[in-house]
Amino acid sequence: MTFVVTENCIKCKFTDCVDVCPVDCFHEGPNFLVIDPDECIDCSLCEPECPAHAIYSEDEVPADQQQFIELNKLLAKDWPVITEVKVPADDAEYWKDPENWKKKGSKLQFLEK
Ligand code: SF4
Ligand code: F3S
Repeated sequence: MTFVVTENCIKCKFTDCVDVCPVDCFHEGPNFLVIDPDECIDCSLCEPECPAHAIYSEDEVPADQQQFIELNKLLAKDWPVITEVKVPADDAEYWKDPENWKKKGSKLQFLEK
């Protein structure tokens, strides 16, 4: 079992999750984080820390977010580990609220790899 970062992290990247992870399994891309499923020990500490509510246990990932299970696994192989909290983007608060982006379609279109 692993935890999974989903759509609402894109363009937010608050990194509060990184601060609590005991095994350094978060990997950082330009505007999104992922969890390496081979390193995650399923401790659940990160889930309540995310201001964007983007983290789910693998067995609780919503139906419309299932593709993020594979995406975390794949991108974790390419992206470097992040171990320290960073300042989020200036507009992270705007992108945190789904009401602000759902009219534009999926946030996945903004994912930078
Ligand atoms: Fe790290 Fe625990 Fe979250 Fe897994 S569940 S990513 S080990 S904090
Ligand atoms: Fe992303 Fe939430 Fe962590 S926005 S960087 S999963 S705290």
